[in-house]
Parts: sequence; structure tokens; C-alpha cells
Amino acid sequence: MGLEFVSQQLEQIDTQKLKIGIYFATWWALNVVFNIYNKKVLNAFPFPWLISTLALASGSLMMLVSWASGVVEAPKTDLDFWKALFPVAVAHTIGHVAATVSMSKVAVSFTHIIKSGEPAFSVLVSRFLLGETFPLPVYLSLVPIIGGCALAAVTELNFNMIGFMGAMISNLAFVFRNIFSKKGMKGKSVGGMNYYACLSMMSLMILTPFTLVAEGPKMWAAGWDSAVSQVGPQFIRWVVAQSVFYHLYNQVSYMSLNEISPLTFSIGNTMKRISVIVTSIIIFSTPIQPVNALGAAIAVLGTFLYSQAKQ
Ligand code: 3PG
Repeated sequence: MGLEFVSQQLEQIDTQKLKIGIYFATWWALNVVFNIYNKKVLNAFPFPWLISTLALASGSLMMLVSWASGVVEAPKTDLDFWKALFPVAVAHTIGHVAATVSMSKVAVSFTHIIKSGEPAFSVLVSRFLLGETFPLPVYLSLVPIIGGCALAAVTELNFNMIGFMGAMISNLAFVFRNIFSKKGMKGKSVGGMNYYACLSMMSLMILTPFTLVAEGPKMWAAGWDSAVSQVGPQFIRWVVAQSVFYHLYNQVSYMSLNEISPLTFSIGNTMKRISVIVTSIIIFSTPIQPVNALGAAIAVLGTFLYSQAKQ
């Protein structure tokens, strides 16, 4: 009887591990595909505000269709839910558009190297704005994160200030998104998939007026014609792919956040960046110098040490 119980428990642990493994592999794969199409689109059509808006719009549309057709059960929400979601959506919108602006100016790998510094922002915001303190090893792990990012930035061959600042703003915004998300999801019965769907819809409403002011239809029309004539009809397929994959990878990441601790999540996110950095360097033949790669490796290692220290 005792043995049977132990073996049942082991089986459950194995199934849970397998489930998380599948979530992680899917999340990383979807993210790599998103980053490639996103950059291809931005290279031909440098309008990051519209591209960010289309990504949110396609996710919102996919989820509205899923709810209407009964494929996914629509969440039961109240005014309090949407009020709690508002600051999350503001931070998500800023983080998303800032990352896309960054990717329109620099190599995908560079944006993600800077974005691997997100834990440093998390510690600094928690320390100076929320008054939280951490054990010494956590602060020490920031040295390789900040040092590695700085080394990678100063040795980047195609450095661009807007690209750098976009990635930094995205880091800061996503730290706030995570802090507000935790508060907003607490005690709510809306699961990861529907939570992210509502987040997309609210972000879309916030972002649309700013997109119209920042770029606008006149600029898009000329840019679109030139992109289609340069790339051919597959340009439209790229736009659809970047939009759909953006929603899918975020949806899977929120679904896995439901199953795992924030710490495991942040380790998963760092591993995701390594796959994106390596794949994008190969696909786009990004020129890198050894010292630049060293900076990236130190930053990523620092993020790993940070997750260990936080444990
Ligand atoms: C975005 O466009 O929102 C960013 O590329 C997101 O980056 P992340 O999900 O890898 O932090």
C-alpha cells in the first residue's frame, strides 16, 4: 500500500515535470519564431507602433472568436477585475511598444541581451520604491548582470541610443507589470489564458490612440507599398505570423506562470533569451565581436546566479 502511494506520487511529479517541460519548450519555440518574423517585418516596414498594435489586435481577435465560438469559456469578470488590470495593461503596453521600438533600431540579439538585465531592474525597483531588502548574494549577482550588459552595449557594433533606451524602458515597465500582475491575479478565478486575453484587449485600447499620433495612416500607406514591392506578397504573411506568434507565446507564458513559481518562470525567461540570441545571430548573420559575446555571456550567467541567490 505504502509503495503504491509512493509510486503514485512519483508518477504525479513526473507528469507535472513533463507538463512544465512542454510549456517551456512551446513558449521558447513560439518566442523564437515571433522574434524572427517581427524583425523581418521591421526591417522592411520600420513602424514599430503599428506592428505592436497589430500584435495586440490579432490576439484580441483570436480570443474574442474563441469565446464566441465556445472553444474557450469566456471569463466571468467584474469592474474590480478590470480596475486591477488597468495598471498591468499600462505597464504591458509601455514594455511591449518600447521593446518593438528597440528591435526596429538594433539587432534582435542586442535587445535581448539588454533585456536579460531585467532582474537588476526588479531588485532596484523593489529596494528603492518598495523598500524590500534582499540577502547580499542577490545584490552581488547584479554585478555580472549590469557589468555584462554594459560590456555588451559598449562593444555593440551597431549601437543605437533609441534601441538601447527602448530595451531599458521595456525592462522597467515589465518589472512594474509583474508587480501589478501578482496583485491583480491574487484570489481571482481567471486563468492564465483568459487573463492574458483581457490584458491584450485593454492594452490594445490604451495603445491605439498613441499609435495613431506617433505614426498615422499616411506614413503607413507609403511604407506598406514599399515593403510589399520590396519583399513581395509574403510580406503580409510575415505580418500575420509576427502578430499571431506574439499572442501565442505570451499566452503560453501566462499559462505556465499559473503552474510554476515566479522564480522558475524567471529562469525559464532567461533560457528563452539565450535561444533567441543564438538563433537570431545565426539567421540574421549579426556581426559580433568576441568581447561583445563575452559581455552577453556574463550578463546571462549573472541572471542565472541571481535566480540561484533568490532561491
Ligand atoms: C514585446 O514585444 O513585448 C517584447 O518583445 C517582449 O519581450 P519579452 O516577452 O521577451 O520580455
